[in-house]
Amino acid sequence: MCPPRTTRLESGPVTVATLQEMKRRGEKIVVLTAYDALTAGMLDEAGIEVILVGDSSGMVFAGYETTIPVEMEHMLYHVASVKRGTQRALIVGDMPFLSYQPSIREAITNAGRFLKAGAHAVKLEGGREVFETTKALVGFGIPVMGHIGLTPQSINKFGGYRVRGRGRDEGKELMDGALALEQAGCFSIVLEKVPFELAKRITARLKIPTIGIGAGPYCDAQVLVVDDMLGRFEKFVPRFVKRYAEVARITKEACARYRDEVKAGKFPTLAHSFSAKKK
Ligand code: KIV
Repeated sequence: MCPPRTTRLESGPVTVATLQEMKRRGEKIVVLTAYDALTAGMLDEAGIEVILVGDSSGMVFAGYETTIPVEMEHMLYHVASVKRGTQRALIVGDMPFLSYQPSIREAITNAGRFLKAGAHAVKLEGGREVFETTKALVGFGIPVMGHIGLTPQSINKFGGYRVRGRGRDEGKELMDGALALEQAGCFSIVLEKVPFELAKRITARLKIPTIGIGAGPYCDAQVLVVDDMLGRFEKFVPRFVKRYAEVARITKEACARYRDEVKAGKFPTLAHSFSAKKK
């Protein structure tokens, strides 16, 4: 087995400029979500370039049915935790539902709180409708990652998790949205659950990197929810997820072994215990 690739000592911190340069060179960018310091540290050691502190935390970490109930306080806690575990990766904080929609002023205040907590950038869902907000944030020095296609905060409008951008009208809307976000100053855009042909066309039109999730192989970057790809989140497995490990199975097996050993008096042994005599 190869040891994990550690890029930390080989090169400096990843910045938005690094990602731009990677797109120019045609080098794929690798993104995963994380919500805690321990996981973030492992991702960093593995050479993951961008850690997205996604509001998917609401579903995989907090057990909500959707991302709608996630609050700023939850996200700030996750961002600060991830920051403590990370040395090299670029950290992007996902702005939760209603933290940027009510007004540009609220968006700036909340995005600023993300940066103070340790994020290097924020992510907003939406296309043309977040143009002015994105422009304002970027204008104040806050890098913005866009997110179009299936945007989970709009799940009640969509009524389900179907592919977005099939057909001419939806395809055009997404292309226009991507171009608007680039014009507004986004440094990258997530394309979630869109046909790979459309993702390919958007990627070719944009100077900034596209980050695909269920958007096929032609995007500049790929992102997955870490608990999906590790096989830790078992409620449902979207078709676009590839499982690289079976952590839920291993965890359950280990816990059952621990239970059996405790019940049988096999754990702890004296080797795991302290004597009254100092050693
Ligand atoms: O919240 C999240 O994890 C996301 C990714 C799935 C892109 O938005």
